[in-house]
Amino acid sequence: MKILGFAGSLRQASFNRALLRAAKELAPTDVEVDIVDLDGIPMYNSDVEAAAFPETVRSLRGRIAASGAVLIATPEYMYSVSGVLKNVLDWLARPPEPRALWDKPVGIIGASPGLVGTARAQLHLRHILLHERAAVMPHPQLLVPDARNKFDANGVLADQETKTKVTEYVDALARWARRLG
Ligand code: FNR
Repeated sequence: MKILGFAGSLRQASFNRALLRAAKELAPTDVEVDIVDLDGIPMYNSDVEAAAFPETVRSLRGRIAASGAVLIATPEYMYSVSGVLKNVLDWLARPPEPRALWDKPVGIIGASPGLVGTARAQLHLRHILLHERAAVMPHPQLLVPDARNKFDANGVLADQETKTKVTEYVDALARWARRLG
C-alpha cells in the first residue's frame, strides 16, 4: 500500500512536516509513505491553468493517482487550514475528470503548539474535501497538541504515546484504503 503525504506548511521546522516524517518512519512494513513538498506549487491562477498545468501540479496529480491513499498533515491557521494547503487543494480540484481526489481515501492529521492540536482545521478540511468527494477516513483521528513538547530539536517525534498513535493511524488508513478497494 502506497500512501502519498503532504503537509500544508513550507517552513523548515514545521511540526506538520515532522509529523509526516514520523508517519513515514513508523508506518507498518507493508505500507510505504511517500512525502511530497509543496514548495514548488504556484498560487492557483486560471490563466496559467488555461495554458497548461504547471509541472509541479501535473507531477503531484500523477503521484496521487498512483497512490492508494493520501495523507494530509494540516496546520491550523485562524481556525482553518493554511493558505498553502488550500491552494494545493484548489489545483487538485480542477478538471479533467476524474479529479485528483474523487473517491480517493484520505487521512487527515495535524500538529500545533496549542491545546487543540488542529481540531478546528481538521474539521474545516473535512468540510472542504466534501466538495471533492474524497473518501475521508472518519475514524480514528490524530491530533497532536502541545507540539513543542512532542518533537525534539531535530524535528523527530519523541513522545512515545504519540508515536503509537501515529503507527495505529497509518495502519488504519491503509486498511481504510484497502476496504474501499
Ligand atoms: C497560527 N497558529 C494557530 N494555532 C492554532 O492552534 N489555531 C489557530 O487558529 C492558529 N492560527 C494561526 C494563524 C497564523 C497566520 C499563523 C502563522 C499561525 C499557530 C500555528 O499552529 C503554528 O504556527 C504551527 O506551528 C504551524 O504549523 P507548522 O508550520 O509548525 O506545521
